[in-house]
Amino acid sequence: MHIGSIQLIEFRNYRTLSYTPSPRLNLLTGPNAQGKTNLLEALAFLLVGRSFRTSRLGDLARWGESSAAVSGELRRQDTSRTIRRTVRMLEDSRWQAAGESCPWARVIVFGWQDLSILTGMPAARRAFIDGVAGRIYPSHLPALGRYRQVLARRNLLLRTRPGEAALAPWDEQLAAVGTELIDRRRRATAMLQTELARIYPAVSGERHKTEIRYRTELGEATEPAALLAAIARVRRDEIRRGQSLVGPHRDDLVLELDGIDARVFGSRGQQRLLALSLRLAEVLPVREAAGTTPVLLLDDALSELDGTVRGHVLREIQTAEQVFLTAPEPLRVEGAARWDLRAGGLCAA
Ligand SMILES: Nc1ncnc2c1ncn2[C@@H]1O[C@H](COP(=O)(O)OP(=O)(O)OP(=O)(O)O)[C@@H](O)[C@H]1O
Ligand SMILES: [Mg+2]
Repeated sequence: MHIGSIQLIEFRNYRTLSYTPSPRLNLLTGPNAQGKTNLLEALAFLLVGRSFRTSRLGDLARWGESSAAVSGELRRQDTSRTIRRTVRMLEDSRWQAAGESCPWARVIVFGWQDLSILTGMPAARRAFIDGVAGRIYPSHLPALGRYRQVLARRNLLLRTRPGEAALAPWDEQLAAVGTELIDRRRRATAMLQTELARIYPAVSGERHKTEIRYRTELGEATEPAALLAAIARVRRDEIRRGQSLVGPHRDDLVLELDGIDARVFGSRGQQRLLALSLRLAEVLPVREAAGTTPVLLLDDALSELDGTVRGHVLREIQTAEQVFLTAPEPLRVEGAARWDLRAGGLCAA
């Protein structure tokens, strides 16, 4: 799929902007603080109605304005769909989003915050794998919401030092939804592994062996009974500490480069390239699941990479469909559409 056109009104630092991108590679360049990331954010908002930077809707409207709008045309094969999304401030100062959605629209975003997949706490890796699983399996995020509710209720109960009978129904629910989540996360991890094994050597230009594994207390088990048994093993500890100690909320991803923990020993460039490769590794699984190639938004994806690696990355991303790549300095890539951004305005470079 691709974005045929987009119009912004009072969105971030843009008063009005009308942009007709290329269906392939778009290079968006310009000095710092001109609106490159803001434009990517508008593209993501058009596609899926969410920002990748904030959950505060009010941040999206230009300062001092009480509404913002993004509209545009999404295309895939012979179909096209016009989408309009708005955020506006209500009388009680809360912000509200409105607009129709497009069930086949998919977007994959890479930004500097993705370095936390390698350098951050386990929660960052869980958020990453849940995002991937959510784009592949539409039922994943609703199940995650249910799991969080069960977990919160169970944790509240644990603080009252309950007996086994009171906990039993919560254990069952936690184990049932928890196993469902673990199963989808594992499958998503396996898909990423297959793609990563091809992409990382291609972009690094070296024959590195990469590995991504899902790590859970359950080991290889796939049945809710295994999670129930694990819960039973830690029950005393859980009651003493007043919190649930096993389940997908405690799991993690292992990332290795040539058999070594890339989270601890990877160089900064390697970690950035691995994070970018993980995002690129999503393209094919998402395409197969959603029946359409996702739009790629790559924010400053070349920084901290050496010249040779940059060349490999540019070649790799051209195999996707529509790509938007930002950079603070001019880039020349054959066949790419180039745009120059200055203070909330845009012109063909
Ligand atoms: N709601 C808003 N209203 C008006 N301006 C905003 C709003 N939110 C952010 N800005 C401003 O938009 C400007 C551009 O931000 P953006 O993050 O898009 O820059 P950028 O071109 O990606 O820069 P960099 O190269 O440093 O990443 C910033 O100066 C920021 O202060
Ligand atoms: Mg930026």
